[in-house]
Amino acid sequence: LDNGLALKPTMGWLHWERFTCNTDCDTDPRNCISEQLYMQMADVMVKEGWKEAGYEYVCIDDCWPSHKRDAKGRLQADPNRFPGGIKKLADYIHSKGLKLGIYADVGKNTCAGYPGSLGYYETDAQTFADWDVDLLKFDGCFMERTLIAEGYMNMSKALNKTGRSILYSCEWPLYEWAIKQPNYTAIREYCNHWRNFNDIFDSWSSLKTILEWTASNQKIIVPAAGPGGWNDPDMLVIGNFGLSHDQQQSQMALWAIMAAPLLMSNDLRDICPRSKELLQNRMIIAINQDPLGQQGYHTARLMDFDVWERPLFGNRLAIAIMNRQELGGPRRFPISAVPGWKICVPQCNVTQILPQYKELGVQSHQKELVLSVNPTGTTLLTVTPLSSNLRKLHWNNT
Ligand code: GLA
Repeated sequence: LDNGLALKPTMGWLHWERFTCNTDCDTDPRNCISEQLYMQMADVMVKEGWKEAGYEYVCIDDCWPSHKRDAKGRLQADPNRFPGGIKKLADYIHSKGLKLGIYADVGKNTCAGYPGSLGYYETDAQTFADWDVDLLKFDGCFMERTLIAEGYMNMSKALNKTGRSILYSCEWPLYEWAIKQPNYTAIREYCNHWRNFNDIFDSWSSLKTILEWTASNQKIIVPAAGPGGWNDPDMLVIGNFGLSHDQQQSQMALWAIMAAPLLMSNDLRDICPRSKELLQNRMIIAINQDPLGQQGYHTARLMDFDVWERPLFGNRLAIAIMNRQELGGPRRFPISAVPGWKICVPQCNVTQILPQYKELGVQSHQKELVLSVNPTGTTLLTVTPLSSNLRKLHWNNT
């Protein structure tokens, strides 16, 4: 969507996977969906280096509103859990130099049964604009599948009509795939990012199905991605309970390769130092936010390793090698097996970013660089060709 937003994949925090629809503020005040939760996340984001690393949007998901619209048909926040209202919450988030995201649904109800926006697109868009909201995640539950596309387009127009810059996060293709192959040209024209596939869960099997789906549909979805519009494989679940550290590294590496929005769903008030360091890793974030804005793709499955590559600005390349085996120890992988390794003719410079930072120095096509990859872990590299640099130098000198 050409609204000047999401020129790079969105970075921030979204409550859903970690906090779901917990509305029980009486017995679980710390974890319930309330204004406090977002204020506390915003505080931590500023204090603990998240904002500095690039995480900017603090996003509300489902279960925030009251079950009834007000007398003028406007959505209203649950008064017990959001006593200050959304406008005040937005002011608070903005005072921290951050942005606020909210959630609504294209159909009659949200997925958790709260009021949907069907019949109220303009009212709701205007309400969000009046509240100074910066992002809308628009879900697709309780909507006739044949009307999904039209609904998402109409909300996009309604947001545009408010005159406020509101990043528009869609689930259009996810719901439309049920009836046909979505038109990604249209989706890109109306949305800043879009969910294609099932909700993520805090587990390795969930991650695997998302990667499988993305690889098998990459011919259709990868060309749609670029500045202003991105494929969204769903939230980062790093820092929670279900992934080993190697698996967390795999998620971070692959979300960077996929040019995915980096929306963390975890508890930033209580996160282990290793997960924090991984999420704030500047070199991985730089791959995710690369100025070329081209999404990477799966290039090979070899010896039960998955190889992914992403072209980066300046003829560089990011390579991710995931060990698919779930048993045994680390396995060795000869890098020359990677299709993109031809970038090293005659020579290239290789930096290993995961599992830990290491300069691997100048390599050539013939040299046998062998990596060791942990089970369900990923080795992430950036490769800079030396040939094209030389060519350029030579060209500059003549
Ligand atoms: C759907 C979406 C999720 C989340 C829930 C909320 O399942 O795909 O990301 O927003 O609804 O109910």
